[in-house]
Amino acid sequence: MDQARRTLLDRLYAEGTAYDAGQPDRLRRRRNLEPDAAQLLTVVLRIAGARRVVEIGTSNGYSAIWLADAVQEVGGRVTTVDIEAWPGVRENLRSAGVSGAVDVVLADGGGYLAGLANARVDLLFLDAERVEYAGWWPHPARVLRPGGVLAVDNVLSHPDEVAPFLALVAADGGFVGTTATVGKGLYLAWRR
Ligand SMILES: C[S@@+](CC[C@H](N)C(=O)[O-])C[C@H]1O[C@@H](n2cnc3c(N)ncnc32)[C@H](O)[C@@H]1O
Repeated sequence: MDQARRTLLDRLYAEGTAYDAGQPDRLRRRRNLEPDAAQLLTVVLRIAGARRVVEIGTSNGYSAIWLADAVQEVGGRVTTVDIEAWPGVRENLRSAGVSGAVDVVLADGGGYLAGLANARVDLLFLDAERVEYAGWWPHPARVLRPGGVLAVDNVLSHPDEVAPFLALVAADGGFVGTTATVGKGLYLAWRR
């Protein structure tokens, strides 16, 4: 990643952390992905050769910039989906120079995944309201191509909330996954 983009990301992360510390309403916090988790996720993205990336949970675009930085190099695209239109998203993407590689979609994540064709996605990153993921099944699995990657944040910080979803993933039998102890716990799984 070039230094200007990394400097912007570091600034957004620092601003987000400070903002969240003063925001009592959890749903109004930016809750950006931790930089070490973002770094790992984008290395996995590169190893998997992912070009069609879907993120559920945009917030202010912080993690979308990380993902776009990686897919840009291979001519891929990131679709980032949020149920809310957060201020600053498009400006942040523009400042990072990744607007051309990112589609910002205002929609419910579950509804968006339900509308995608089978095996359409190379990497799916779930970073929204964790208790909703199980209700989105089977679409998170259905939309991933064989060899694709499922990534879920917050599996160590909120294990009870993600447990029903991870149980569905385990019962599916079509994934090989593990949790990386970076950030708040990043679950990564390879789709058979
Ligand atoms: C943890 S934040 C995302 C952080 C972002 N990925 C980042 O690292 O910068 C969670 C986001 O999920 C969004 N969200 C909550 N429920 C959702 C749903 N059903 N569909 C899509 N987005 C949702 C929230 O509006 C919020 O922006």
